[in-house]
Amino acid sequence: MTNRDITVKIRQLAYDELSPADAELVEQARQATFRSYAPYSRFRVGAAILLSNGEVITGANQENAAYPSGTCAERSACYYAHARYPEAKFLKIAIAARGTDGEFVDEPAAPCGACRQALLEYETLAGAPVEVLLAGRDKIYVLESVKSTLPLAFDSF
Ligand code: THU
Repeated sequence: MTNRDITVKIRQLAYDELSPADAELVEQARQATFRSYAPYSRFRVGAAILLSNGEVITGANQENAAYPSGTCAERSACYYAHARYPEAKFLKIAIAARGTDGEFVDEPAAPCGACRQALLEYETLAGAPVEVLLAGRDKIYVLESVKSTLPLAFDSF
């Protein structure tokens, strides 16, 4: 028998410890929460993806009366990013959320499993780790890659 451990490295920073470029990406994710359409959950998520061509593509969760038809912020962002700039590589993604009280959440919100799987595909296409910034109100978690959010990922068939 072999025991294997998988370790996820998370750097925790205060907002003012971020580089100006990372703070700007987090800001874009925060602004994207205001473009969320979430009349059902009232949980508003924003994502901002920095691409290798310098563009930042944002997305926000879009809900639907037929609940499963809605989509998360991360998938709206990554699918649009690749549809708009199929040649560009993903470099970094920031994710922010506002709770039902309309305030930015204290604890960083992490992407759901489906979004981790979707993002992983673009990390694989990029051929290099895509850094993930999860933004709470003042607490920012920085993960070195999407893969680190989904250690035993399905990645081929
Ligand atoms: N949501 C996201 O946008 N991203 C996630 O990774 C988790 C959940 C959205 C989906 C739904 O509109 C709302 O948050 C509540 O689940």
